[in-house]
Amino acid sequence: MSDAAIRAEIKSACENRRTFAIISHPDAGKTTLTEKLLLYSGMLRTAGMVGGRKNSKTAASDWMSMEQERGISITASAMQFTYKDTVINVIDTPGHQDFCEDTYRSLTAADSVIMVLDAAKGVEAQTIKLFDACKIRGIPVITFINKMDLPARDPLELMAEVEEVLGIHAAAYNWPIGNGQGFKGVVNCDNKICELYERTAAGGQQKAAVTHVPLDQLKEQDGVDQAFADQVLDEMELLAEAGNPFTLDAYRKFEVTPVFFGSGMNNFGVEPLFDALIELAPSPHARVADEGEGEIELDPVEEPFSAYVFKMQANMNPKHRDCVAFMRINSGRYEKDLQVKHQRLGKKIRLSRPHNLMINGRETVDLAYPGDIIGVINNGNFAIGDTISCRGEYTYKPLPQFQPELFARIRPKDLGKRKSIDKGLVQLVSEGAVQLLREYGQHAADPFIAAVGQLQFEVMQHRLLDEYGVDTELTMMPYSSSAWLEGDPDTFKKPFNAVYVLDNRERLMVLFRDDWEKQHARRENPDHQLLDHA
Ligand code: G4P
Repeated sequence: MSDAAIRAEIKSACENRRTFAIISHPDAGKTTLTEKLLLYSGMLRTAGMVGGRKNSKTAASDWMSMEQERGISITASAMQFTYKDTVINVIDTPGHQDFCEDTYRSLTAADSVIMVLDAAKGVEAQTIKLFDACKIRGIPVITFINKMDLPARDPLELMAEVEEVLGIHAAAYNWPIGNGQGFKGVVNCDNKICELYERTAAGGQQKAAVTHVPLDQLKEQDGVDQAFADQVLDEMELLAEAGNPFTLDAYRKFEVTPVFFGSGMNNFGVEPLFDALIELAPSPHARVADEGEGEIELDPVEEPFSAYVFKMQANMNPKHRDCVAFMRINSGRYEKDLQVKHQRLGKKIRLSRPHNLMINGRETVDLAYPGDIIGVINNGNFAIGDTISCRGEYTYKPLPQFQPELFARIRPKDLGKRKSIDKGLVQLVSEGAVQLLREYGQHAADPFIAAVGQLQFEVMQHRLLDEYGVDTELTMMPYSSSAWLEGDPDTFKKPFNAVYVLDNRERLMVLFRDDWEKQHARRENPDHQLLDHA
């Protein structure tokens, strides 16, 4: 194949790919929506394949318990399948009880995001955290307001909340017709066509039947409550006059989020959402890297193969006790046995057997394109954030680090195991499993670890025991907020209870008892900066 033909193939693969993540506060409906995406892709014959998720307390994604069907490939990091001829990569961003740093890092592998809100609850705590992570990277967000089949808050009020709390313009892309028991469907704000759905006896396991009706004929439709129809007509007029306009450019620049309404459970409004995702969401695009002195933009088609490691997962296969490095391809084409340069180690390596981890075993990947995720067995070569590429000479921007909220001292129950714990911690920190902190100016025997989610500690303790034979004890520290300090610590008015620490890159951090104390410190120190991410 000539170079030009390969480039044409990569270009077409890029145009035909959407790599995105679904984010939500727990219970807003992320898993349900993921299932519906598979249902509408024709990948699942019936939805409801995610077994026993309520009881599952595993670190791995819900998807790992999903039954395998032809055409879906699942890694612990992403799921690939085809929706209406477009290749979809859905990045898994654990946002449930297993919320952790992986969630943030995984988001960097997505080119866009669907944010799911519960129509009765609106913007919730974890929605804000995840949204902010998208904001930092400029990852465009589509909003889906779910559970409209239950008593919901006023849609205009929900839009206003998105704008006020998240600080982005919200533009209605479609609008709900009724709510709760009377929720009938949505009207497209652009062409004013209503989609009226029927609840199926199968309770959302099958696609909902839909009827298309022009808005001006809505009132004549059977089963449509007249009061709801009048309300929709009024609201549509209001939106036309006072609503935010939607433009593709503004969405891609993170200035506006298009808002969709629906009920994932009943399959109401999910198809318009997925169709819009294909139409609006960016395909894999140029990414910025550091090359020597300056920054360069690397085009996914023109630049030969490059990828970066955003997630590490150990012991995926208990028989092999191995660790898999997940990488997102940013440019070029991966072929089996490709030889690449490992920028940090300054050496060449061969990517011989990347794989997708299928539920029943591994499937080797022969070809992959920008936007795809591949997993490579890590024999100690890879750390989170590593760049590999054919050309070498550059590294992708470091992955963002977010303020930890949980802090603990860790010690071996058997003090004779101190060497093993040190060794294990070095490895786990390099994999990004936890953060290791050091006291500023003091020296304490027991290391100080930090995380953004409780699960990180649990996984770490389990792995220290399992892989390094060290049973450990954690003493939680009384801090729940932190920030990186920019400015002179000598002139910083530190709250009495706060402490200074150094992170693993020797950057100064302040740990606070709570957010209130941090906000207070911000007000008291206008000449210093307290950063929530670094
Ligand atoms: P998550 O992944 O964001 O945590 O949410 P998930 O999809 O698991 O949904 C949380 C709960 O909300 C589930 O109920 C789910 O069935 C329900 N749900 C999701 N979408 C809708 C919707 O559009 N309407 C209504 N009425 N409910 C919805 P559960 O009782 O916790 O679990 P299950 O027994 O239904 O599996």
